[in-house]
Amino acid sequence: MSFRNVILLDHPVIQTKLAELRDYSADHREFRALLDEIAALMVYEVTRDWPTKTRPVQTPLERTTGNVLARQVTLVPILRAGLGMASGVLRLLPTARMGHLGVYRDEKTLEPVSYYQKLPPDIASTEVLLIDPMLATGGSGSAAATCLKAAGVTSMKFVCLVAAPEGIENFHRHHPEVPIYCAAIDRELNEKGFILPGLGDAGDRAFGT
Ligand code: PRP
Repeated sequence: MSFRNVILLDHPVIQTKLAELRDYSADHREFRALLDEIAALMVYEVTRDWPTKTRPVQTPLERTTGNVLARQVTLVPILRAGLGMASGVLRLLPTARMGHLGVYRDEKTLEPVSYYQKLPPDIASTEVLLIDPMLATGGSGSAAATCLKAAGVTSMKFVCLVAAPEGIENFHRHHPEVPIYCAAIDRELNEKGFILPGLGDAGDRAFGT
């Protein structure tokens, strides 16, 4: 299955950890650790095309130039489950700022409900990574991306672990230019909006609720 503007990170180490994460026997401690590790591993590919600029560097021997990221980075987890990926990303991008978007999915209607928003004031001039382990119906991710655009964001990527085809289509119907990076494109959604085979409810599994 291939979709336009969807980048599937099929690296064997990521896939190994994803298989462990899906396993229902992983408790919240293991689940959190795996979420953190996979998010960190995804950063290399997700950031590959970011612009760089040169800066002078004085080595112990002489003066030279190095290449560094040209723009500030803002990491925006969708609460709650997105928080589980934040520490892994921040380990590799420690100067990133963080915004928070609270969105949950109404269990009956499956519609996204936004309940919290706190973003850095200069987010519009930064590279933004929107993170959430799951893209199911795509409602939450899409609402979050709309909110970021309203804040002036022009350069954003959506990073998730598991995406359903329905969610990809819905997200790209609203935000076709936003690339989706994922570790797996799963088969389908069930009637309750759960991804199959999926990994269960990432928020509940990560936080033990
Ligand atoms: C889950 C998940 C996504 C959303 C995906 O969050 O972390 O945010 O559902 O579903 P969608 O693509 O159909 O919108 P949930 O609503 O369970 O909230 P939580 O993270 O607070 O548990």
